[in-house]
Order: sequence, then C-alpha cells, then structure tokens
Amino acid sequence: MKGFVKVLLGVILVGLVLQIPIFQPAKNYSDTAPLDDIYKVYEIPMDIQMDFNNACYDCHSNYTEDYPWYYRVQPVSWWMNGHIQKAKAVLNFSEFATYSKEEQAERFKKIQEVMEKRTMPLPAYQRMHNKAQLSDKEYQKVAAWAKEMAEALP
Ligand code: HEC
Repeated sequence: MKGFVKVLLGVILVGLVLQIPIFQPAKNYSDTAPLDDIYKVYEIPMDIQMDFNNACYDCHSNYTEDYPWYYRVQPVSWWMNGHIQKAKAVLNFSEFATYSKEEQAERFKKIQEVMEKRTMPLPAYQRMHNKAQLSDKEYQKVAAWAKEMAEALP
C-alpha cells in the first residue's frame, strides 16, 4: 500500500509540474499578415470561405482563433498542438500561395476526398465546436468546389 501511495504522489507531482507555463507549446498565432493565404490567390465563394474559417483554420492555418480553456491543462496542449502541427504540415491555408501548382492541385484533390469521406474536421474537434459541424449540403458544396479547382490546375 505504501508503494502505491508513493507512486500516486509521484504521478500527482509530475502532473502539477507539467502545469508550469514553460511546458506550454507556443500558441499557433502568427503576428504577420496572411499574405500567402489561399484567399489571396483564389476567389473563393463566401460560403466556402466561411466553412474553411469555421471548420478548418483552427488547425490548417497559422492563426488558431479558438483555443478552449482546457488548452491550458497539460497534456491537452501537447495533444492539440500535435494536431495543429500535423495538420499544417499536410495543408496550410495560410501558406497556400507558396505551394507549386502541382502541390495546390494535390491539396484540392485531398480536400475533395476528406469532404466526400467526411473525415475532416477531426471528430473530437467537431464534438467541441458547434461552428465546425458542417451540413450535408456544405460537405457536398466544398467537395464539388475543390474538385473544380483541382481540375482547373495542370
Ligand atoms: C482539430 C484539427 C483539425 C481540423 C479542425 C481540421 N483538420 Fe484536417 N487534418 C488534421 C490533422 C491532424 C491531419 C493529419 C492527419 C494525419 O496525419 O493522419 C489533417 C489532414 C487533412 C488533410 C490531408 C488528408 C490526407 O489524406 O492527406 C486534408 C485535405 C484536410 N485535413 C482537410 C481539412 C479540411 C478541409 C478541414 C475543414 C473542413 C479540416 N481539415 C479540419 C487536423 C484538423
């Protein structure tokens, strides 16, 4: 029993130490203007731009708007930051203009794919964010638009 109490205290202590702010990853919020954002190079219908803003930009851009309060609790911030970093590595709307035409076409095809399969936004994120719950029509519209965009590129 004594051993168990020691382990328990150890776990609690480590848990508390991790809450010290130096262990927090930096927030994903660039202080430079989004000059290379997708909307700077393509004319995106307003409703689709809104869907991207509401459902994708928290992870797939350099500007995460919506950090929930529990982001401050470890290890939640590592977990969320991991999602953001992985998401940005595959598709960063804020840097879309820096992709080659081929890379852009590839991204558009992937967007079409995830909209058709409805694998994005991540389910855990959708559960916590009403604004990220897209309707059937929204999924179809974004998929159709992304398909069109991919086909218009070489
Ligand atoms: C909560 C964070 C989060 C949100 C919100 C989110 N994504 Fe993602 N997305 C990810 C992560 C993480 C990955 C990388 C998945 C992996 O590596 O398996 C990813 C991958 C992708 C990919 C690449 C898929 C592939 O097969 O290569 C596309 C395209 C994508 N997301 C589009 C979107 C779109 C469009 C939205 C909004 C409708 C969106 N995502 C919302 C986190 C997110």
